[in-house]
Amino acid sequence: MSGKLRITGGTPLTGEITVRGAKNFVSKAMVAALLASDTSVLRNVPLIRDVDVVTDLLRLHGARVEYSQDAGIVEITPGELHLPDDPEEMDGLAGSSRIPILFAGPLLHKLGEAFIPDLGGCHIGDRPVDFHMRVLEEFGAKRIQEPAGLHLVAEKGLKAKPVRLPYPSVGATEQTLLTAVMAEGITMLSNAAVEPEIMDLIAVLQKMGAIISVDTDRTIRIEGVPELYGYSHTSLPDRIEAGSWAAAALATGGDIYVRGAKQLDMMSFLNVFRKVGGAFEIDDVGIRFWHPGGELHSISLQTDVHPGFMTDWQQPMVVALTQASGISILHETVYENRLGFTDALVEMGAHIQTYRECLGGLECRFGQRNFYHSAVIQGPTPLHPADIEVPDLRGGFSYLIAALAANGTSYVSNTDIIDRGYEHFMRKLHALGAHVEKIE
Ligand code: EPU
Repeated sequence: MSGKLRITGGTPLTGEITVRGAKNFVSKAMVAALLASDTSVLRNVPLIRDVDVVTDLLRLHGARVEYSQDAGIVEITPGELHLPDDPEEMDGLAGSSRIPILFAGPLLHKLGEAFIPDLGGCHIGDRPVDFHMRVLEEFGAKRIQEPAGLHLVAEKGLKAKPVRLPYPSVGATEQTLLTAVMAEGITMLSNAAVEPEIMDLIAVLQKMGAIISVDTDRTIRIEGVPELYGYSHTSLPDRIEAGSWAAAALATGGDIYVRGAKQLDMMSFLNVFRKVGGAFEIDDVGIRFWHPGGELHSISLQTDVHPGFMTDWQQPMVVALTQASGISILHETVYENRLGFTDALVEMGAHIQTYRECLGGLECRFGQRNFYHSAVIQGPTPLHPADIEVPDLRGGFSYLIAALAANGTSYVSNTDIIDRGYEHFMRKLHALGAHVEKIE
């Protein structure tokens, strides 16, 4: 646990910031470069820790990675790939990211084997990898459990199989894509995730020579090819970061122009933002989000897979909902355990009660299980300063927003985790007039 901020809130955030490429696409596009026979070039790459983790993992496997940070350009040449000489070298990296599992397909194609260290990531539920494993095994990989992780072997190569995901998982869809593009035969993937980041990954794979078509019913058809080539691509913008800054504008009564934000990827967010009473204006290069004055309105909100309201927007938006008049209902259907962060908001004066039942929407996978995945938020409540500890990446940004909305000085610890997904967040906060200081 590291990083502590002193935040004096009560000042509306106003000004302009820029969002660059999407964390949840860039890391996957970097892994896809392993499949190529030559160099790939990715632009609009943000300076966040997840990019460093993938860079290190690629280098440990023998790939050459040149990263020009200010320009946001990464060049990846697979070269002579190999498994890391010492699996322990992957330890520190795996602990902070779940990306290593996506190396499996490309490495099995290139080397006939892969090693997946025990996985980390945000603590927002069990986050199992059973769907990933089922896909890899169906395609012919054998797994051998070792003390530090999982050794996968596919001596006879990988063969396409029909895949039906039990849930439209983003990671398992990417796993299937990265494995099927070079597998022998045709893969029909049904119940796939269709997030914009996945569509951009498909665009990258198509540039590399893959043959992929997407149907309207969550079915993706992938025709395996024997060789793929390097790509040149500009990442789509980070819609999670854009939504986070929008929520910050609303919760602090501010006005933020988010350069890089793209309407088409944020339709469900924009609808919710408007229903709550936020104002926005869209132009060709960004979106201005602001609090137009007067009361914010309570709403009923359900998170869902695309094209629904993203789970990653939920935490920042809940802070804004504490400032809305009336009772808002939230139903989190993607992760079973993503409402723990509300405890600190309650400590700050918010009226939030969590429930095991599915409230305000359809019954979800967690309805008959013991998970507090619905919430009732009663507002508006002034937020008081507090001494709080960041639980996960998005919860962490929502704590920054809460502290900035509170009148007085808060201390927020474990803030280094926010660097995983928010580029230069301190610099951006200062540009928006926030009183924030790093004290540890
Ligand atoms: N799931 C399984 N088994 C699996 C895989 C997933 O049960 O093998 C379940 C998960 O436990 C979860 C649900 O399926 O309940 C959805 O998980 P998904 O696989 O879609 O998530 P992910 O690929 O692990 C990515 C993002 C997350 C984002 C989710 C949903 C990355 C690196 N992470 O995770 O981003 O919340 O999709 O959109 O792309 C974040 O950026 O803060 C973050 C957590």
